[in-house]
Amino acid sequence: MSPLLLLLISFIIKACAIDLHSPWTMSAGSTYGSYKFNVLHHLTGISPYFESNSEGLNPDPPQDCTIDRVAYLLRHGALYVNEYDYVSIIEPFLQRLKNASNYVKFSESTDLSFLTHWTSPVSNSREQIAKLSKLGYLEAFSLGTRLAYRYPHLMPTAKDTSFKVWGSNANRTKHSAEALFAGLFAGHETIGKMVNVSENSDRGADTLTPTRSCPNFDVSKGTRQADVWLKNYAVPIIARLNAKVPGFHFSAHDVMAMQELCGYETIIRGSSLFCGIFTSEEWLSFEYYFDIKYYYELGYGNDLSPTLGMPWLVATSDLLAHAKANDQRLYISVAHRQIPPLILTALGLFNDSEYLGTSNVNPVLPLDKINYQRAWKTSSFISFLSQIALERLNCKSTAYNGSYVRILVNSVPKPLPGCVSGPSDSCPLKQFTDYVKQRHKQYEDFTKACGVKNKNVPDAMTFFVKEQTV
Ligand SMILES: *[C@@H]1O[C@H](CO)[C@@H](O)[C@H](O)[C@H]1NC(C)=O
Ligand SMILES: *[C@@H]1O[C@H](CO)[C@@H](O)[C@H](O)[C@H]1NC(C)=O
Ligand SMILES: *[C@@H]1O[C@H](CO)[C@@H](O)[C@H](O)[C@H]1NC(C)=O
Ligand SMILES: *[C@@H]1O[C@H](CO)[C@@H](O)[C@H](O)[C@H]1NC(C)=O
Ligand SMILES: *[C@@H]1O[C@H](CO)[C@@H](O)[C@H](O)[C@H]1NC(C)=O
Repeated sequence: MSPLLLLLISFIIKACAIDLHSPWTMSAGSTYGSYKFNVLHHLTGISPYFESNSEGLNPDPPQDCTIDRVAYLLRHGALYVNEYDYVSIIEPFLQRLKNASNYVKFSESTDLSFLTHWTSPVSNSREQIAKLSKLGYLEAFSLGTRLAYRYPHLMPTAKDTSFKVWGSNANRTKHSAEALFAGLFAGHETIGKMVNVSENSDRGADTLTPTRSCPNFDVSKGTRQADVWLKNYAVPIIARLNAKVPGFHFSAHDVMAMQELCGYETIIRGSSLFCGIFTSEEWLSFEYYFDIKYYYELGYGNDLSPTLGMPWLVATSDLLAHAKANDQRLYISVAHRQIPPLILTALGLFNDSEYLGTSNVNPVLPLDKINYQRAWKTSSFISFLSQIALERLNCKSTAYNGSYVRILVNSVPKPLPGCVSGPSDSCPLKQFTDYVKQRHKQYEDFTKACGVKNKNVPDAMTFFVKEQTV
């Protein structure tokens, strides 16, 4: 092969691989060549964005269908470090590490010898806590460009300057929305504007941060149950690490800190040796910890969840059903990690009880062992830049003629329970809007369920159809 051709190929490979980090993959022996375990796909809220389509439905529009409207709701891109994780988990570990360097010999342990020279990737906590990282900017910009390629016919034109992208008013969400907005036009002149959606507690349902405007919402839910599991799974890890590094006296929180650092250090530096010191079982245990936590805080284990996800779903269902002339056709909103799971419960997706049946006596998430069969795996919908999309399909074939709705979670098509008669298991538009109406009725209204005292607080999400910045 000519050197020029080689150069060209290596350029193309580099140009395609825009990630700032490599996968951290474990493999098995020579007779299990198919086994690949990427640690970074099991870090739930700390996973950099990834897509994993295990069911196999094609994300392309079904044959003879075009997408004529779409709404995206996404979490912001990768942070340097989350505030709670840093202050409560990581910083205490860093303190202990610093202290221990006087009397503990990490150099004598093969796995942990890197700690002799290791420094924290969070080098300036004031500048980094809760801030969008470089990887986060790249993820959001790249998604913007990919959406422009996926939906060229839904992009605004120069005449259509009312185009908007909505971002919740925190720096990490606003900066993600800005990067995505720039990515939609990929270096060309932008059309339209960004809208800043207030996170104030008096916004009721008219917000992208319903957990902040709902007085009855309790952010600590799930911690008690998840900590029971942590105490279980950390036992053998602590025993192993204590044998390797006598004198450090590892705690369950140290284990958690090192597992979290695998994610954050990868985001900041591109890789982390912490990713290599745990087994696949131990990573799956870490993932299960957050699946439990989020199940009781933001999932089916909290009766408030569908109510808090409903305002976005109802507003979006209206956008899909009632097209107006010159209307926007691509809706994108950027918010925090809480909202994708809430919307999924409003939709009724990833509901394990759906498959077990209500008469099943086994708990969905036992606290003494992993339920490997569960549908509620938060890594697949709460990673950085995770996203839920509702696409309206316009189909013209002999089998399917009319409008349908399809749901994508991180680009993976997810059929709606009980509504799969459309192409590629999509749901006929009329049935979809009826489904949303029926579920809206089934769950208490926002202000009532949340115990909002002020009667003037909005009970619906209306900012999509308002002209002004909100
Ligand atoms: C630091 O080490 C000393 C001596 O072992 C101990 O008494 C002290 O509690 C440690 N401090 C922290 C923050 O771990
Ligand atoms: C948010 O970002 C702006 C720059 O866009 C900066 O001036 C401001 O200090 C940041 N706010 C916080 C709380 O970090
Ligand atoms: C967004 O709105 C808040 C008030 O709700 C305001 O404090 C903030 O400066 C606004 N940010 C931008 C970029 O307009
Ligand atoms: C989850 O599934 C169970 C069993 O079908 C059902 O009773 C329950 O209402 C569902 N939860 C939600 C929020 O849809
Ligand atoms: C689809 O339905 C419309 C009327 O509802 C009809 O005019 C058209 O011929 C149908 N197309 C196909 C391919 O069946």
